[in-house]
Amino acid sequence: MLNQVEELASKAFDELDRVSDVNALEAWRIRYLGRKGTLIRILRSLLTLPPEERRVVGARANELKKALETSLAAKKADLEQSAVISLQRESLDVTLPGHPVLLGRLHPTTQVLEEICDIFKSMGFQIVEGPEVEWEYYNFEALNMPADHPARDMFATLWVDFETESADKTMLLRTHTSPVQIRVMEKSRPPIRVIAPGRVFRYEATDATHEWMFYQVEGLAVDKNITLADLKGTLFEFTRRLFGSDRKCRFRCDYFPFVEPGVEVAIDCLACRGAGCRLCGNSGWIEILGAGMVHPEVLRRVDIDPDIYSGFAFGMGVERIPMLRYGIDDIRLFYSNDLRFLTQF
Ligand code: DAH
Repeated sequence: MLNQVEELASKAFDELDRVSDVNALEAWRIRYLGRKGTLIRILRSLLTLPPEERRVVGARANELKKALETSLAAKKADLEQSAVISLQRESLDVTLPGHPVLLGRLHPTTQVLEEICDIFKSMGFQIVEGPEVEWEYYNFEALNMPADHPARDMFATLWVDFETESADKTMLLRTHTSPVQIRVMEKSRPPIRVIAPGRVFRYEATDATHEWMFYQVEGLAVDKNITLADLKGTLFEFTRRLFGSDRKCRFRCDYFPFVEPGVEVAIDCLACRGAGCRLCGNSGWIEILGAGMVHPEVLRRVDIDPDIYSGFAFGMGVERIPMLRYGIDDIRLFYSNDLRFLTQF
């Protein structure tokens, strides 16, 4: 009989060890400690034993009963504790502050580009784009700058090397957006009125006023009877809309191989209104673009008869504009992706 009690003890503790939830624990309690449980059956059958054996077995059985009850209580507390912990882990604290939603914004260059395009769109210009990797022909040759032309020195060029490079098929990263003029005129006939925004590249050391990549916007209008007065009217309107209606605008002679005559356009300084300050190098004026009447040679090359048609063209740097507007003194800030700079716009 004593053996039976010992066997029961080791089985009961063994099973209790493996119990992992409250239901299994209750089943275990009923099995071993319940009114019809194994231990009660043993205690009941004590009466049939001789007194000597009854005392020994009875003492051991009662001891076991107490031990099982203590272990049951401990196990129960254990299970309840881990249930609370897993509940806590699963619970959602709705009073915690949420994650802030970061709002994106347009890059300052994009904002100004959109503004410029909107102004010209409202004047009837169409937006077009050209490739950033360009043929030498479009970037120079067709714009009246043959291979030995000194004006090529104005453009520090990034050339693209090909294994099969041949003399008349050389590629480069476009140094300006002017080649888009040629691409447009090759494909369409006057009247033409287009704006071509895009990236351009120069082989240049960077400093506060130079980047090797920046944006330009090119403009082109070709039709019968287009004169320098049309160019002036268009650019006067543009500068006033972009920089303010009381802006003064100055045209002076300049040279670009693809226009004749060529002009340089300046506005009165935004900081000193023409009096002279550091921003405008004491001149009172700030140059914002190059322009001119499309050179007859350029028209001829794309099969537009310069005796019938004429046109004007202009090209401007884009980063210059937010730099003037917001007093940004280093162009490198635009594309170094420092959020402390970018989130200000
Ligand atoms: N492409 C010239 C540059 O990058 C700017 C320019 C000047 C464009 C005169 C024009 C123009 O269309 O007529 O320096």
